[in-house]
Amino acid sequence: MFVLSIQDPQNAGPAPQPQVDAYGQLSKLASTFHDVDGLFYFTYAVCIFFFVLILGVLLFSVVKYRRKTEDQPAASNVTHNTPLEVVWTVIPLIIVMVMFAWGYKGADQMVDVPKEAARNAYKAMAKQWSWTFTYPDGSVSYGDVWVEKDKPVQFYLQSSDVLHAFYVPSMRVKRDVIPGRMQTVWFQPTEEGIYHLFCAEYCGNDHSKMYARVHVVSSAEFKKRPWDDFDDSTPELAAKSGESLYSRNCAVCHSVDGTPLVGPSWKGLFVKGEGDTIVGAKRTVIEGGATKEITVDDAYVLESVRTPAQKLVATHPNGGMSSFGPELIDDRRVKAIVTYMKSLASK
Ligand code: CUA
Repeated sequence: MFVLSIQDPQNAGPAPQPQVDAYGQLSKLASTFHDVDGLFYFTYAVCIFFFVLILGVLLFSVVKYRRKTEDQPAASNVTHNTPLEVVWTVIPLIIVMVMFAWGYKGADQMVDVPKEAARNAYKAMAKQWSWTFTYPDGSVSYGDVWVEKDKPVQFYLQSSDVLHAFYVPSMRVKRDVIPGRMQTVWFQPTEEGIYHLFCAEYCGNDHSKMYARVHVVSSAEFKKRPWDDFDDSTPELAAKSGESLYSRNCAVCHSVDGTPLVGPSWKGLFVKGEGDTIVGAKRTVIEGGATKEITVDDAYVLESVRTPAQKLVATHPNGGMSSFGPELIDDRRVKAIVTYMKSLASK
C-alpha cells in the first residue's frame, strides 16, 4: 500500500498521521460526504469487473481459437450480432447513468449550503504561501484552524494574490480560490482529529509548502479556543508568540539561520551592541530605483510587511512578496514578530 508521507514545513504542533480508509485507496473519510467514496468505489469496481471480463474473454479466445497450423482457414466470418451489440450498449449506458445520478446527488449536496453551516461561517484567506483563518467571532489563526465535530461549517475562500485551491481530502472538499471572486465550501466533520489542508493549485515557487491543518475537536475543547494563544504581555511571551507567527506565516520564505530561501534571511537583522543592547543592523536597500543604506528598526519591519516593494533588500532586487495588510496581521502581531527577531540577535 502506498501512503503519502507529508513533511510539515510549518513546524507548529503535531502533523496528522497519514490515515487511509478501510480499502487503502482514499484518505480517511471524516465528513458526511460519503457519496464521494461510494461513487469512487462503484466506479472502481465497475472498472475492475470489466477489465477482468474483457481481458478474460480476450485471452480465452486467443488461446482457444488461435490458428493451429500455417494454412488453417478462418473459423468464422461474423461481421455483426445485433442482440450482442444492444447488450453492450445498453448495459454501459445504464452504468454511466447510475454514475451520473450518483455524482449529481453528491455534487448537489456539496453546493447546497445548509443554514447551520452558513451560521458557522469562517473565512480562509489564501496567500503565497500560507493560510489565514478568520472565525465566526472575528478571531484569527494562521496555518491551523479549529472546527467543532458534527457542526456543519462553511468557509468563504479568498485570495490576496494568485490562484490557490482549498483541498481537505478527509472532508472530501476541494475548491479553487480565485482572486476577486467569492468561492465557498461547506462540510460537516464527523470525526475528531487533525487533517491536512493542501493548496491544490500551483501558485508559485513554494506552492508545495502551502499547507495547513484542520483540527476537528469536541465542543468542550472548542470552547477553550485553542487557536487563541497570542500573548504579548511580557517580552518573553511576545517573542514566543512572534516565533509561532513566524513559523506559520514567514518561515516558508525567510530563514532565521541564513539558509537561502525565496526571501532574504532574518539572520542578523538585529545584533547585540554595547552592553548587550539590541540594535538594528545596517542593510542596503533599493527604494524607488536608488540604492541606499538603512538601519533596521520596528518601522522598517512593519513597512516591509505592509508594503514589501517599498524598500527591496539589495540581495533580492526582484522582491516578489505580496503585502500583508492589517486584516491578515495586525500591528501588535507584527510587533511580536519584531520582538522575536530581536531575540535572535547575537554579537
Ligand atoms: Cu497556493 Cu498552491
